[in-house]
Amino acid sequence: MTDGQPPGGEKNGSVKLKIPDDEVTFTGLSKEELMRVAGTPGWVRTRWVLLILFWLGWVGMLAGAIVIIVQAPRCKPIPEMHWWNEGPLYQVPDLEAFSDGLKGAEAKLDVINQLKVKGLVLGPLHTVQSDNPATLELTTINPSQGKETELIAVMEKAHKKGMSIVLDLTPNYNGTSPWFIGGNTGNLMEKVVAAAEHWMGLGVDGIKFSDFTDAANTPQWTMLQAVVQGNNTEGTKKGVLMGVATGVSPAEVSRLVNTTGVDLVLSDLLSSNNGGVERINALDTLHSQQRSLGWGLGAARLEQLSKLATTPSLIRLYQLLLFTMPGTPMFTYGDEIGLHTQQGEKNPKMVWDIEKEPAEGEAVDTAAEVTRKEHVAVMKWFRSLSDLRGKERSLLHGDYYPLYSSASSLSFLRLWDQSERFITAVNWGEAPETLKLSLAPTEGVELPTTAVVKLTAGLNSTIEFTEDSTVELDNLTLGPGQAVLLHFPYTG
Ligand SMILES: *[C@@H]1O[C@H](CO)[C@@H](O)[C@H](O)[C@H]1NC(C)=O
Ligand SMILES: *[C@@H]1O[C@H](CO)[C@@H](O)[C@H](O)[C@H]1NC(C)=O
Ligand SMILES: *[C@@H]1O[C@H](CO)[C@@H](O)[C@H](O)[C@H]1NC(C)=O
Ligand SMILES: *[C@@H]1O[C@H](CO)[C@@H](O)[C@H](O)[C@H]1NC(C)=O
Ligand SMILES: *[C@@H]1O[C@H](CO)[C@@H](O)[C@H](O)[C@H]1NC(C)=O
Repeated sequence: MTDGQPPGGEKNGSVKLKIPDDEVTFTGLSKEELMRVAGTPGWVRTRWVLLILFWLGWVGMLAGAIVIIVQAPRCKPIPEMHWWNEGPLYQVPDLEAFSDGLKGAEAKLDVINQLKVKGLVLGPLHTVQSDNPATLELTTINPSQGKETELIAVMEKAHKKGMSIVLDLTPNYNGTSPWFIGGNTGNLMEKVVAAAEHWMGLGVDGIKFSDFTDAANTPQWTMLQAVVQGNNTEGTKKGVLMGVATGVSPAEVSRLVNTTGVDLVLSDLLSSNNGGVERINALDTLHSQQRSLGWGLGAARLEQLSKLATTPSLIRLYQLLLFTMPGTPMFTYGDEIGLHTQQGEKNPKMVWDIEKEPAEGEAVDTAAEVTRKEHVAVMKWFRSLSDLRGKERSLLHGDYYPLYSSASSLSFLRLWDQSERFITAVNWGEAPETLKLSLAPTEGVELPTTAVVKLTAGLNSTIEFTEDSTVELDNLTLGPGQAVLLHFPYTG
């Protein structure tokens, strides 16, 4: 360090690098020396070799990448999916029984959202005296169900959570015939079209009708389609026109999908047929139209599935079936906990806060506690199925192949492109049954001899499956009420 004038005369804070020519401060080469050495033939050659190697490597990697891309199997293009294809729909026919009206329903949307529900189907909410067309007021909400402003609040909150709202506008819902007997159909249909326009204008995402087949034959039906389905322009959310068809054959359901312009047809084929062979036949007929099909056990009649699935095992079995069949699973409120109905009861009171444990020292009603624990267990099962359906392509929109059917059991395969494959196998009979799963020769699809258990339920069974265990597919024995979901990977 020098105290006086700094060398080179630099000012404080700025450093001027000056390398003296005559002083060797480090053991590198000077620029001139470098240039001299670099110019020698040896180095020139080395540089050329390295340059050529670099470009050869570069071109080689490019060619390698192209080969990998060309040789990799093509991804199958994903079919067009609408919001109602992406998860279960949840019906609430009576908001009083669900949560004390529309106002209460708003508070329950968080709980519903956890079930990965994509849409709520509300109502019918309008006012009408049974079998009296003159009293039909499709744009007035029955005061026992709530107010229009409350419906708008439910809609806004649901939309924020990514759920859509469908309104049931079945005119004579509490009467003998859903569309009245006799009467002026043209007049009725005009009322329906005007009401659909009113509700769609307020932000409703779809309209549902029970027994829609006669209405679909009226001249006003195309107007209704235009109002509900809108322009269907790219980028805008499409409105859904939903129809329920009961008491018809699978072929007729297929025809309704093809000819009526309804986006989603909910049939009662699962509850009207109790045989596995008939159920598999219905799936065989309809699976190619899966994005226009809704499946439910009680849903077509706005009933809980527990009405037909009367034991805890059967409740789980039908939930598994609905979540893995090709089509949209449809539930009625309470299905997620296996809510039971009393004989002849319509719209049982929903049970909330089931996860609340009894407080320390509180007198515990043993029977109520057993019911509560069962509700919790069913909800856990429901949620794991809904999660799986939402993220596995094979279950979301995969192809379907039948594997087995008998009087009281069935099994099918779901697969998509290179995604994980799933096999559903269920036995709703009262005796154990051995299912021999086999696939009719199909191009490009082969069934392995074994698969791994993904999910299993069957509370009454002596046959135990454990998750992640391997089972033989040509000798799969299921106990009464037992249901399993198996999986196996894609192999190239
Ligand atoms: C439905 O009809 C029954 C009688 O058939 C009646 O007791 C009930 O109040 C009606 N419900 C509504 C919402 O109109
Ligand atoms: C269709 O779109 C146009 C403009 O985008 C709009 O003016 C018209 O109201 C729409 N029609 C329906 C039926 O939504
Ligand atoms: C409906 O259309 C599908 C193809 O889009 C066809 O396979 C099916 O046979 C048709 N159904 C009827 C009843 O015509
Ligand atoms: C077990 O089976 C019996 C009779 O078959 C039935 O009453 C009971 O509800 C079943 N239990 C479960 C958990 O499914
Ligand atoms: C089928 O599996 C059972 C055990 O689950 C076994 O006892 C039986 O021998 C098997 N049958 C065949 C044909 O492999």
